[in-house]
Amino acid sequence: MDIQKIGVIGAGQMGNGIAHVMALAGYDVVLNDISQQALDAALSAIQKNLTRQASKGKIDQAEVDAALARISTTLTLADVGKTDLVIEAATERETVKQAIFEDLQPHLLPHTILTSNTSSISITRLASRTDRPERFMGFHFMNPVPVMQLVELIRGIATDEATFSACHAVVEKLGKTAASAEDFPAFIVNRILMPMINEAVYTLYEGVGSVKSIDESMKLGANHPMGPLELADFIGLDTCLAIMNVLHDGLADTKYRPCPLLTKYVEAGWLGRKTQRGFYDYRGEVPVPTR
Ligand code: CAA
Repeated sequence: MDIQKIGVIGAGQMGNGIAHVMALAGYDVVLNDISQQALDAALSAIQKNLTRQASKGKIDQAEVDAALARISTTLTLADVGKTDLVIEAATERETVKQAIFEDLQPHLLPHTILTSNTSSISITRLASRTDRPERFMGFHFMNPVPVMQLVELIRGIATDEATFSACHAVVEKLGKTAASAEDFPAFIVNRILMPMINEAVYTLYEGVGSVKSIDESMKLGANHPMGPLELADFIGLDTCLAIMNVLHDGLADTKYRPCPLLTKYVEAGWLGRKTQRGFYDYRGEVPVPTR
């Protein structure tokens, strides 16, 4: 199947990154959100990140302009239906994602492939609520999307081979690498990464280390580019908690229980960088540890 036009639902940090890389690879992109403010913020983030790539000599100004010209934005979900491939990148809540697919269904072309950028929710369950489980799969990018090489491709129980091949070809055109994962809670990357982040929060909760010493230990002692608490703030603490809950519920194993301190930060609305406060406070010149 020849994919040319891609719909992206959700203009948050994942959605704007996905629109960015798709447009740069030559696809026409329709970016949708329920908030005009989110769409405006996404376009300015995309422009800033493309310009950053141009200033590093990775792309030229003509490519920046062409990529921006390929992106249109809309508040109307129906506009996303008339595309070859839809990537849903809305909030990591199953009820939200289900409602989006339900509202979108009457507007789809017969051949449109539906995918979700979910980091943990069952693809098979999301697919089963649509009219096309065979043309539904997981298309999971890593943050920051323009920089990270990996895309996880997750087949639901009903996903057909043509759908998988079409999505695989898109990943190749992006110049990224696809890893195929089975549809079990949190797939591969988050099945391994989130328990590590959760354990870092337990390490903080139990007083084994401070925010600074935990992050420094993993950066300097394990060569991670970011410490686990800094990374949690970068991903979003609400997303980290949602993924731990999916692991805990889906695998029914207490080793995945979310740390109460992670829950407390989320209850406080301290969700990390996006709310300017998480394990670090980002409101000043430099991030300051909150514990
Ligand atoms: N768009 C375009 N380019 C970007 C960018 C963006 N949004 N963010 C960073 N870059 C580029 C920079 O321009 C820079 O380019 P050069 O190498 O050409 O100089 C490069 O990326 C590195 O950036 P910086 O120099 O600003 O900063 P850094 O060296 O500290 O790296 C980082 C930043 C790439 C984010 C690095 O810290 C890192 O790899 N962190 C870990 C990220 C990670 O683990 N992501 C996965 C999260 S899990 C996930 O996403 C799955 C999920 O479902 C939750």
